Amino acid sequence: MSRQMIVGNWKMNGTCQAAQALVAGLVGRLPQDSAEVVICPPFTQLASVADQLVGSFIGLGAQDCHQAASGAYTGDISAPMLADLGVSHVILGHSERRQGHAELDETVREKAVAAIHAGLTPIICVGETAEQRDANQHEDVLGWQIEGSLPAGFSGVLAYEPIWAIGAGRAATEEQIAQTMAFLRAELLRQFGEAGKAVKILYGGSVNAGNAPSILSIPEVAGALVGGASLDADAFLSIVGAAS
Ligand code: G3P
Repeated sequence: MSRQMIVGNWKMNGTCQAAQALVAGLVGRLPQDSAEVVICPPFTQLASVADQLVGSFIGLGAQDCHQAASGAYTGDISAPMLADLGVSHVILGHSERRQGHAELDETVREKAVAAIHAGLTPIICVGETAEQRDANQHEDVLGWQIEGSLPAGFSGVLAYEPIWAIGAGRAATEEQIAQTMAFLRAELLRQFGEAGKAVKILYGGSVNAGNAPSILSIPEVAGALVGGASLDADAFLSIVGAAS
């Protein structure tokens, strides 16, 4: 079985100086056989963090990219620009972008195609709202998001982040995670055939040092996408330590 993957999504936090301090607290403290670790700082911190990570086991990710390679897109950053900085992964379709920037499944899919073309591994996020879960519509919603957001033959990373668990201080229950993971795997196989087996599925939403051991031992959970706790080196390293 491949190593689990722990991804830190720093969201819109920190200065370059704060990022350097955080990275300094991670580099050199990871055993060589640890889980695969990727940190995703804001765009402004990527270049300096890339320099700091040279020679470490920590991968570098971004939190979004544009679907075009270049052109008249004021304020946007393209996948080839990220690759140029040494970025290897990119989070796409996070619910904060789907909601705050009106990103549609189709846009997420186009971004994923652009990322793959630039040699990046997309981490595509899906997740239902509390209302959808309460109405027992979550499987329909997740199925549509997979169908619309993942390019054909996708073999990257899928992150299941129930929106109601993000930043809530309370993760989904083990039972909810296990059932949804099984559903997502079945859906990947149904939609993509054999290729669906290669997709790693992460869980995200209030993962912390305390709940990481139980969440990471749920079958099908290939790792975690961590928000708040990834801004604290000790907490993040504990989560990494709980991964296999
Ligand atoms: O992408 C990670 C995220 O949305 C989860 O955030 O703070 O609940 O771990 P948090």
